[in-house]
Amino acid sequence: MKQIAVLTSGGDAPGMNAAIRAVVRTGIDKGWQVCGVNNGYHGLLNDNIIPLGARDVGGVIQRGGTILGSSRSPEFETEEGQLKAIRNLKRHDIEALIVIGGNGSQQGAFSLSKRGFPIVGIASTIDNDLYGPDITLGVDTALNIALEAIDRLKVTASSHQRAFLVEVMGRNCGYLAMMSGIAGGAEYVVLPEVDTDPEEIAQRLRADYQKGKQHAIIVVAEGAKYNAEKLSAYFKKHQERLGFDLRMTIIGHVQRGGAPGAFDRLLGTRMGAAATDALTQKKEGVLVGLYKGEISTLPLENVVSHKKKLDLKLLKLAKALNK
Ligand code: ADP
Ligand code: F6P
Repeated sequence: MKQIAVLTSGGDAPGMNAAIRAVVRTGIDKGWQVCGVNNGYHGLLNDNIIPLGARDVGGVIQRGGTILGSSRSPEFETEEGQLKAIRNLKRHDIEALIVIGGNGSQQGAFSLSKRGFPIVGIASTIDNDLYGPDITLGVDTALNIALEAIDRLKVTASSHQRAFLVEVMGRNCGYLAMMSGIAGGAEYVVLPEVDTDPEEIAQRLRADYQKGKQHAIIVVAEGAKYNAEKLSAYFKKHQERLGFDLRMTIIGHVQRGGAPGAFDRLLGTRMGAAATDALTQKKEGVLVGLYKGEISTLPLENVVSHKKKLDLKLLKLAKALNK
C-alpha cells in the first residue's frame, strides 16, 4: 500500500480533527502518502483531493468541526455517483479510503466497499445512532454542551419558578435527550422513540408545581413527535393549569460546534490509529469503534443492516429520579 485517503461526511462532530490527524500521522508512520478529500462525498465526486503532510494536521486536535469540511451529497447515493467516486480515487492511485461519519456516511462507505473498494469507517456522530459502538465520536462533547445549557437554564428557571422546554439535537434518535436529561436532572425527557402525551406532561408539571418545585426542565429531542415548538404551542393553551410560567430554548447546532473534550480527542485519536492498523491487517469493509470498552472493528454490513435501539431502561430511570 502506498497511498490512502480520508474524508469526513454528514454532520460534523467534535473530535473529527483528532481522528484526521491520527490517520495522517499513523499513515505516514507506515510509509504511506495520505490524501484528504475536502467536503465529504461531494468533494470525492468533484475530485477535490489533496495530499496531507504531518504539518497540515498540526494544531487541530483541540478544534471542533472538521478541517476537511463535510457535506451531504444526494448524487453519491446513486450508482453513477458511486462509480464516479471510485474512478476518481483510482485516478489518484488511492488504494483505500477512510470514512469518518455517522449512519448515512457509513451506508455510503458500505456501498463503495460492496463495489470492491477497500474501505474503513470511523464511527463519528453526535447522535450515537450507529449500530454497534458503545459511544461514537462527538457524543461526549455534545452532551457536555447540552448540560452546560441545562444547568444555566435551571438557574434562571428556579429564580422565576419557570418550566423550560430544552430542545437538543437528534432527528431519529433520542440518545442525546435521554442522557442529557438524566445527567441534567430534568423532570421529563421527550424522545422520538416513545409516544408522549402532552396532556400527561401538563398534568405532571402541575403536580410538580403543587409540590413546591422551583423549576421544571423538560428535555425534548428535536425529532420527537411533539418537539419543543409543538409542546410550547400545546402548553400555551393550558398555561394557567401548569402553574409554572413556561419558556423554550432550542440548543440546536451550538451542541455540535464545540471544541472536543479529552474523551473525544482520545477516542478520535485511537480510532484514527486503529483505522490505519486495520488497513495494514487487510481488514476492509469494517467500522472502527468503541465496542464494549475496546477499540476494535465490526463489519460494515453488520452495522448498516441493523438499527441501534435506545435502552429504554434508562427512560424508566429518568422517571424514577423525578420526585
Ligand atoms: P450522517 O453520516 O451524519 O448520518 P447523512 O445521513 O446526512 O449523515 O449522510 C451523509 C451522506 O452519506 C449523504 O449525504 C450521502 O451522500 C451518503 N449516504 C447516506 N445514505 C446513503 C446510502 N444509503 N447509500 C449511499 N450513500 C449514502
Ligand atoms: O446527525 C447529526 C445531526 O446534528 C442531528 O442531530 C441533526 O438532526 C442533524 O445533524 C442536523 O443536520 P444539519 O446540520 O444538516 O442541519
